[in-house]
Amino acid sequence: MISRTTIDQVMDTMRIEDVVGDYVSLKRRGSNMLGLCPFHNEKTPSFNVSPQKGIFKCFGCGQAGNSIKFLMELEKFSYPETIKYLAKKYSINVEEDEQPDDVRQEIQERESMLLANQWAASFFQEQMWDTDLGQTVALSYFRERGFTDETIKEFGLGFHPEGYTLLADAAKKAGYNLNYFAKTGLSIEKDGRYFDRFRNRVMFPIRNTSGKVIGFGGRILGNDKKVAKYLNSPESDVYHKSSVLYGLYEAKKAISNEDEAILVEGYTDVISLHQAGIQNAVASSGTSLTTEQIRLIRRYTQNVTILFDGDSAGIKASFRGLDMILEQGLNVKIIPLPKGEDPDSFARGNSTAFIKEHIRREAKDFISYKTSVLKDEAAGDPIKTAGMIREIVHSLAIIPDPILRSLYLKECSLKLDMDEQTLIFEMNRQIKDNQQKAYKSSSQSSGYSSAPNANDFPQDVPPDDYEYSGDGSITETANTFVHSTALAQENDIIRILIQFSNNAVIYHETNEEGEREDHVYRVGDILLNELVSDELYPLDQVNMRIFNSFMEAGQEDFPVESFFLHNDDQEIANRAIELTTTQHTLSLHWKERHQIHITNEEDLTRKMVLSAAYSFKFRRVEGMLNDVNQKLRHELPEEIMMKYVEECMGLQQAKLELARQLSYVIV
Ligand code: CTP
Ligand code: MN
Repeated sequence: MISRTTIDQVMDTMRIEDVVGDYVSLKRRGSNMLGLCPFHNEKTPSFNVSPQKGIFKCFGCGQAGNSIKFLMELEKFSYPETIKYLAKKYSINVEEDEQPDDVRQEIQERESMLLANQWAASFFQEQMWDTDLGQTVALSYFRERGFTDETIKEFGLGFHPEGYTLLADAAKKAGYNLNYFAKTGLSIEKDGRYFDRFRNRVMFPIRNTSGKVIGFGGRILGNDKKVAKYLNSPESDVYHKSSVLYGLYEAKKAISNEDEAILVEGYTDVISLHQAGIQNAVASSGTSLTTEQIRLIRRYTQNVTILFDGDSAGIKASFRGLDMILEQGLNVKIIPLPKGEDPDSFARGNSTAFIKEHIRREAKDFISYKTSVLKDEAAGDPIKTAGMIREIVHSLAIIPDPILRSLYLKECSLKLDMDEQTLIFEMNRQIKDNQQKAYKSSSQSSGYSSAPNANDFPQDVPPDDYEYSGDGSITETANTFVHSTALAQENDIIRILIQFSNNAVIYHETNEEGEREDHVYRVGDILLNELVSDELYPLDQVNMRIFNSFMEAGQEDFPVESFFLHNDDQEIANRAIELTTTQHTLSLHWKERHQIHITNEEDLTRKMVLSAAYSFKFRRVEGMLNDVNQKLRHELPEEIMMKYVEECMGLQQAKLELARQLSYVIV
């Protein structure tokens, strides 16, 4: 483990303009530097570097962070790799810490398991290449499938002959502790004896992204329907099926270069495509596609093309995968293959040029694809057609980016020959449903649910008595609006905390004797006091985490801006960058909104702080008022209604009071 001292030394020494400068040519622009973004294609520069703050931000694609994030994103380095890279760049000596015993043991255990796998992979290769049986049975099987010797070697394919203790005996003889063979699932332990899991199968080693063998898939040699065609290694400390993509190690460079990943189903699909010159193919072998696997792809590209069998099972599988990919914010295309073909047979039967052309020409965006499949199924039946529209809108509703979502919606209305408004209505209904579901599950697991009010007034979610009426849609939209403006105020507070919490503000107060007294307060204390005394906490989870860092400071200095900009918690770092780099526009709006007259700097700070606090409270009270008013529109038992009326009056009073305070500050 790299020592804290080394990491601190690297953090203190690294200069964002050097680090980025190695990849991007930067031009000075005021206190910042500007260049072409390396994370997306652009012709006019929108990639900003702030040497002062040590961060970068692209206003085109939204990528942002410090030097470490830059290298991790661009080079796909791990954290330790990044630190080592930077240490080398600045000639800093890398100190390694002694690891605690339990950590060391865990690492040793993992290493031993990987060694066992590595050794077994070579053993399987020897069994295939260097024995008569291996050559006649296994090697010829692969050759008959059209794999070249080069391909067979590149993917490390091998053979496990018949026999119950072949691998175990050889491993023991080679001096290995069979315990690790049992842990990886290569062997099965019974009463102190070790038996081989795989027998009489050709072997496909499964590698992680750094090329280490973490598991195996074993295929029977023929087409015997009575035996499972593939047998896979079980889950283990080194093999987590849901976060592994077969072929990614071999494909990752091509995926980056071509900015596209091709997703297929099986081992042989990946290998055949690879051999045919399509080297950016990966498979979710052994499991159905998982979110982790999609996130893995997202490290290399935003674009996924699904290549599935043309049969109906393949189509259904692709629907599921498609929605999951959309949900992760990636772009997705689908290529249905001719009936009876799978990617493996398709790749074998055609030239590289033809396959590439087919992929380019036949790739359908998901709207066209889903529409064409479902349209055939519905074929004029109105009930089925309604179902089809809901199904397509379902895919639209889960796209996180609202702009992309509305673009697709337009296309969808054209393709389906449907009124756009109708689709928007259905989509909004589904989005609301999804949010409600998400809110329910997050509030159950949220660590901050104990914060007062956070639960009572969920953001963007209809109030709990939603089911009372069917006509609440208009006021609900208004309500959502109020809540999201409160979010702008909330962000304002968080930004001020991040940037000015340690600044001092002098207040002229009059004491009991009527004498003037000057008090000095920190901006942070004023804001925290204002919010805590009213038990108003940020609703947004990331804002709440940032807020907590200030609460934890107590009498100590508040954490400073760079603490957040370079925070290990990536969500915090991103939020801090987002808030502080848009500061200019934010404060401008804010000035317009409140018509603040600038007198002197200290006065401005004071006004800014109080105004932010009061505006925040004002919006929140408005939101609560709205909620209560809405409840009051329903038929309610007398008792409950009175409770709401009282609540409503209290809030109205608070609103008036806040408006008064706000006008003091602003005028
Ligand atoms: N699979 C599995 N266990 C099975 C069948 C399939 O783990 N009993 C996984 C394998 O990863 C396989 C993928 O699902 O590669 C796709 O299955 P299938 O299309 O049946 O296999 P192919 O890859 O086409 O295998 P082959 O061409 O060798 O028949
Ligand atoms: Mn096949």
